[in-house]
Amino acid sequence: MPILLAAWVALSTPSAPAGAPLPPPARDPLEAPRLAHISLALASAERAFDGAGSRRGEPAAVLGSPPPGRRGGAPAKVGRPPSPAPAALGAARRAALVRRAKAVLEANRESFPATTGEARFTAPDKERYPYQWLWDSSFHAIGLRHYDPARAADELRSLLAAQWPNGMIPNMVHARADVLASRHWKALHEAARERRPGAALRALRGAVSLWFQDKLFGALHNAATRSSGITQPPIVAEAAVEVSRALAPGAAAAFLREVYPPLRAYYDWIDRERLRDGLMVIFHSWESGTDNSPRFDPVYGVDPRRYEETRYNLFKKLPALLAFKGSGWRSSSRFAVKGVDMNSYYHKNLLALARVARDAGRPDEGAELEGRARELKGEIIRQLWDPARGAFRDLGLVGGRWTPLETETPFGFLPLYAGLLDRGDPRVAILVERLTDPAKFWTAFPVPTVALSERSFDPKGYWRGTTWLNVNYFLARGLAEHGYAAESRELMERSLAMVERGGMREYFNPRTGEGYRARQFSWTAALVIELDEALRRLAVPGR
Ligand code: GLC
Repeated sequence: MPILLAAWVALSTPSAPAGAPLPPPARDPLEAPRLAHISLALASAERAFDGAGSRRGEPAAVLGSPPPGRRGGAPAKVGRPPSPAPAALGAARRAALVRRAKAVLEANRESFPATTGEARFTAPDKERYPYQWLWDSSFHAIGLRHYDPARAADELRSLLAAQWPNGMIPNMVHARADVLASRHWKALHEAARERRPGAALRALRGAVSLWFQDKLFGALHNAATRSSGITQPPIVAEAAVEVSRALAPGAAAAFLREVYPPLRAYYDWIDRERLRDGLMVIFHSWESGTDNSPRFDPVYGVDPRRYEETRYNLFKKLPALLAFKGSGWRSSSRFAVKGVDMNSYYHKNLLALARVARDAGRPDEGAELEGRARELKGEIIRQLWDPARGAFRDLGLVGGRWTPLETETPFGFLPLYAGLLDRGDPRVAILVERLTDPAKFWTAFPVPTVALSERSFDPKGYWRGTTWLNVNYFLARGLAEHGYAAESRELMERSLAMVERGGMREYFNPRTGEGYRARQFSWTAALVIELDEALRRLAVPGR
């Protein structure tokens, strides 16, 4: 009952506005019966998953729940001593890891009828994340292109087909619940017939999870498009360029001509709707893809020492989605962040889009996009570089003012990947020194998503200190880009060793390499393939 009440209160009384100088959000009227439905769903699913999740010592499975036992307070201590840095995997072990990665991408392959035609994509993890996500699919395409470029192109086509009429690409696109549910029921039926209680329980859990997610997101998201009203890191232009490189020349040119108009519409939407003082702004922490990062705690008004995942979701993040489900919204006054990460991605992808424009035979548009990237670069350096601290840091709206968000995370190093600093820029050495500091980020299994020296660092926390392969992918590129080849190689090798040790999991303990949460996580698999290819290219002189 308390959970029911909490859900009800959370969803019917959105958090107090931060007094931001932004226009008020256009909100859909809230329907009480629907909210009651959501609170019921939340309560039952939470019970269901709390029980099921603890079975394997796993975190609860509901919406960004962290591993149990980490409920704010002092930084977590690791249970066992940190492991020594792993040795690089030999060729045979690397090849075996790549085979396992391909099997994961195969297991998570989806294809079913959608309103927009046949949707073909890779679910992040069929059991836990059955839908299509924006940046996940971009990573999937980057990995898939190495051995199935046609499937990689379809992954991006499915994503672009979900674009809203105003140009936005949603962070989440629902898969057809009826198609997905029928699988669980079939599995349940078979397991019952063959008297396999474990399998029957798993199938039932899958069906309940799906039902819960479908009801929850159905109520919080846009009903017409069956997708969310928020976006995610805009890395899809880069992914399109990478995929085109793997296609045969004729097919590549046709693909780029096909994807340029929707891509252009997406980045124009960012330019039109999401620039504040020349920088891209996000209105929900989920838009960064780093849902629970402590850098956002001050903006959500959460005391990191009292951080508690379920409350955070119920009171802050889920209600906030309602503001975006209609098509008439422009912005939210509750949460706004000018992130170093988002602006780095945006910069890199404006350049990628310029390339697509040129390849699609539109050189004037290419030049215009490069001009936009130049302006953005100027604003990033002007607003997000802090000379006193020698660091890039986000600005967040706190009490109506743009305030520096001081939590030290590796997202401050993304300008290295984004082409924002020249090779000889003295800031590069400062950033690399901090990134490779074992007291902050260079752990046995780097790179933790929060510096070890931060109070909020949690080696098991969801984006609160754990290592994620996609972050390593960008950082390895950034290091290589600036001539730090040895560090880049070391990061890639340790990343592969970490996945071998921890499994094809969603995220990892930066000290022990233990893997957490989703067991067959597609972007980990896709980026294993990408990192293996990158290491292979390094080993071949002249390529
Ligand atoms: C979680 C992650 C987000 C990802 C999604 C699907 O919400 O925080 O980055 O896109 O899961 O994998």
